[in-house]
Amino acid sequence: MPVQAIAWTPSGAVRIVDQRALPEAHIERDLESVAAMAEAIRTLQVRGAPLIGIAAAMGLVAGLRDERGAPRERFLARVEELAAPLAAARPTAVNLRWALDRMRRVAAQAPGDGAALWDRLKSEATAIWEEDRAMCRRIGEAGLALVPDGATVLTHCNAGALATGGIGTALAPVYLAHEAGRRVRVYVGETRPVLQGARLTAWELTHAGIPCTVIADAAAGALMRQAEVDLALVGADRIAANGDFANKIGTYALAVLALHHGVPFYCAAPSTTIDATLADGDGIPIEQRPVEEVKTLAGRPIAPAAAGALNPAFDVTPARYVTGYLMERGMVKPPFGADP
Ligand code: MRU
Repeated sequence: MPVQAIAWTPSGAVRIVDQRALPEAHIERDLESVAAMAEAIRTLQVRGAPLIGIAAAMGLVAGLRDERGAPRERFLARVEELAAPLAAARPTAVNLRWALDRMRRVAAQAPGDGAALWDRLKSEATAIWEEDRAMCRRIGEAGLALVPDGATVLTHCNAGALATGGIGTALAPVYLAHEAGRRVRVYVGETRPVLQGARLTAWELTHAGIPCTVIADAAAGALMRQAEVDLALVGADRIAANGDFANKIGTYALAVLALHHGVPFYCAAPSTTIDATLADGDGIPIEQRPVEEVKTLAGRPIAPAAAGALNPAFDVTPARYVTGYLMERGMVKPPFGADP
């Protein structure tokens, strides 16, 4: 089965797979502090909406190790201080804020001083991770019937094991179909500019023995026109109450193409990705990343230095383009409350 993206070290630090190095090198890093974790999230060493929530919760615990001898009030003040830079590391995926709010709430409500509170927070971070792993599996079960023997799936970015605590969201039905002995083929959009599709999705699928074909993002429309795609499966970083959702830039274009060509288009996400405070997708904050990601490829310039560039990391796909939402409780429809 797929790779595991995160783990505790024996000393309570957080071990991550540095996703910047894939597929060339499989490098694990032990993150000892909140500053190191915030930097890892910001620079996409760890990425994917559910995984950055889990990583932030675990990073908070790692950063609080030195406070275990502190009295209660001091420990709680440190929880607040250390949660802030983690929450600010990336703006779009709501899972990050959700996980940190849960950790802050649990700390405030638990009894005891620093040592007891730290133990409680470590259990809570582990629970967030384990719950995500279980939700991934249930999302896979919800989508399994969509992936019959011989199915051809198109996906975008990486919404697999490298983006979650388990077998992924969009890739979960693919993994379960493969586990059930079905032949599945996955078209993987390369996902410019950071290439999460080519570098990460193709890496984890090949690692799991699932056939995949990397395509330039611009090839998706032609493939749909040639009836080469049975369904599209993508993840989400934030889903508004009406079902509009943010996901990696390029998702909206795929959704429009899918509707045009009659290709079913599914959004797969755990309920921790829902932001019921937003009525629709217009309020979702879209991360603007450094333009160097667009103007370079593998460290080499691909555009004149004097050219301008834009690098929105996400786009919003209106709910009307979505055939269905695969969540841990099955195939669901908007509107979404806090617990769909
Ligand atoms: O910028 P990234 O790589 O963190 O973007 C990730 C995505 O857009 C994923 O599709 C999304 O987080 C869903 S992950 C299960």
